[in-house]
Amino acid sequence: MAPWWYTAGSALVLSLQAAAWDYSTYSSIDFQPPKLEVNKTGTTDPGYIFIGPRGGVQAAGTAALIYDDAGDLVYEGPEEITANFMVQKLFGEDVITYWAGDMMHVGYGYGTVHILDNTYKEIYTVRLTGDFVTPDGSTKDSYCDLHESHITPRNTLICTAYNVTQHDLTSINGTSSDWMLDSQFYEIDVRTNHVINSWSALDHEADIPITSSHQGLGKDVGSTQDNPYDAYHMNAITVTNHGYLVSLRHMWSGYYLAQNGSVMWQVSGEDGADFKQVGKADFSWQHDMRVYNETDNGLVLNLFNNANTPTDEQSETTGLSLDIDLSKKTVTGLRELTDPNDPIHSVSQGSYQLLSEIDSHVFMDYGSISKVKEFDGDGNVVFSAQFGEDNDVASYRGYRCQWTATPFWKPSASVTNTTDGATVFMSWNGATEYDNWVVYAAASASSSNTTKIASAKRTGFETKIDLTNPPTSFVQVVARKGSDVLGTSEIVSF
Ligand SMILES: *[C@@H]1O[C@H](CO)[C@@H](O)[C@H](O)[C@H]1NC(C)=O
Ligand SMILES: *[C@@H]1O[C@H](CO)[C@@H](O)[C@H](O)[C@H]1NC(C)=O
Ligand SMILES: *[C@@H]1O[C@H](CO)[C@@H](O)[C@H](O)[C@H]1NC(C)=O
Ligand SMILES: *[C@@H]1O[C@H](CO)[C@@H](O)[C@H](O)[C@H]1NC(C)=O
Ligand SMILES: *[C@@H]1O[C@H](CO)[C@@H](O)[C@H](O)[C@H]1NC(C)=O
Ligand SMILES: *[C@@H]1O[C@H](CO)[C@@H](O)[C@H](O)[C@H]1NC(C)=O
Ligand SMILES: *[C@@H]1O[C@H](CO)[C@@H](O)[C@H](O)[C@H]1NC(C)=O
Repeated sequence: MAPWWYTAGSALVLSLQAAAWDYSTYSSIDFQPPKLEVNKTGTTDPGYIFIGPRGGVQAAGTAALIYDDAGDLVYEGPEEITANFMVQKLFGEDVITYWAGDMMHVGYGYGTVHILDNTYKEIYTVRLTGDFVTPDGSTKDSYCDLHESHITPRNTLICTAYNVTQHDLTSINGTSSDWMLDSQFYEIDVRTNHVINSWSALDHEADIPITSSHQGLGKDVGSTQDNPYDAYHMNAITVTNHGYLVSLRHMWSGYYLAQNGSVMWQVSGEDGADFKQVGKADFSWQHDMRVYNETDNGLVLNLFNNANTPTDEQSETTGLSLDIDLSKKTVTGLRELTDPNDPIHSVSQGSYQLLSEIDSHVFMDYGSISKVKEFDGDGNVVFSAQFGEDNDVASYRGYRCQWTATPFWKPSASVTNTTDGATVFMSWNGATEYDNWVVYAAASASSSNTTKIASAKRTGFETKIDLTNPPTSFVQVVARKGSDVLGTSEIVSF
């Protein structure tokens, strides 16, 4: 019998089996993020780990999460399903971006893209509206799909969208009026939510025939609106010098589009399509296809090569870098990243992030396998981390990002009595800059008179200080960088 994840169209389906993965709890704040099990085996690039886990039995850990390399939590966002949680540049500033919304069980969704500044204030909310059709006919206040939330060099945002429509599928043994998903993308002005450009795969049937999809028309698929056939499965878009590069997972291909949307060329992981494959240039069911070093003569394509869904369960998932030469008409394998000590078969999702053009480190998130790994320039693994049971907890993408933030909210503190005093627990969700805490005794719940009674270096997400015979039963804690005060908590009584 086929394993549970081989359901037709199951690009993001998760297991229902219960599996326990350890999670952390804190006294100062009600968070239960999954523990990040870290194996650091070399020198990593700077930055924190950004993931958006979902699934498993640990519902409280379904949120945008930032960890440090020691596995300590740095930030937990609201409890919601997220995707593409990362740092991007917008109008010259580092911002946090992520998609949040509702996910359909076959792997697309409806939501909004949130853009936060370095105090975690939401400065833009990107919504897509229009005459979209959903599987159950319901309307949504935003139709941005989860697969892409990319900020372009021109400070616009590109998101994907999946529209349910009827179409003639007799060419693949369907009927003349079957239901299918059109894969679309929208380039949106983040300030006004106006659509600047859009593109639909179904508008380009001559160049992207449905008959070349590797996604079979499964039993009963396409016969009703609520079970549409997913011919394309668009999952990544980048802006190029002359238009866009679009990844269609179910076509095992990337397409270079002119600004007017015409397909200029196709690179296929099966047979190269417009290019002759040289070396390791085959890929399938890919994610996160990105363009680098584009010239008039070609470009470099990086991608997460899932490779083994669902037709081939033998091939290992790899990170791939390909050189496309437009004059020689070749696609040449440049780099292939795998961990020989930990071969991974990721049936869905995943990402490939080139961390630095200088040291060529790459950070990969393994999608349906709840692991992230960093590779050095020689392809050696320098960092591996896991945050759930394989195929039970997923993160659609995962990144290492440099991030500096001082939240607009106050530090949190809680105090519990001990036999000879009290213990104070302190944390400041999302704060990256403070390195020490000072505890003050306050005369009353509303007192401004505070006396310094203890201090400690920051330890991870939550720091704990034991107080012996505190002078009052009111404390206030202060987060500092050196002697600079960055944040002050409310007065807490105990
Ligand atoms: C979605 O499909 C419906 C049905 O074919 C069509 O009327 C509608 O215009 C489409 N919406 C978009 C945004 O393409
Ligand atoms: C359509 O059905 C025919 C007859 O069963 C089969 O030979 C062919 O492979 C099918 N084509 C597709 C695209 O499924
Ligand atoms: C779109 O642009 C490309 C590249 O500039 C051009 O070759 C093509 O003819 C254009 N197509 C249409 C329909 O205008
Ligand atoms: C881009 O080109 C530079 C200079 O040749 C090279 O160092 C870098 O590795 C290239 N980037 C990619 C992604 O191949
Ligand atoms: C870390 O190393 C241990 C011991 O080799 C191994 O059991 C575990 O699976 C590794 N975890 C990750 C995330 O690589
Ligand atoms: C402030 O409060 C402390 C106890 O926390 C007390 O010892 C001290 O006398 C107070 N100072 C003033 C000026 O009220
Ligand atoms: C905790 O200790 C303080 C100060 O010693 C005392 O005033 C308070 O009643 C104690 N609280 C509890 C819940 O025991």
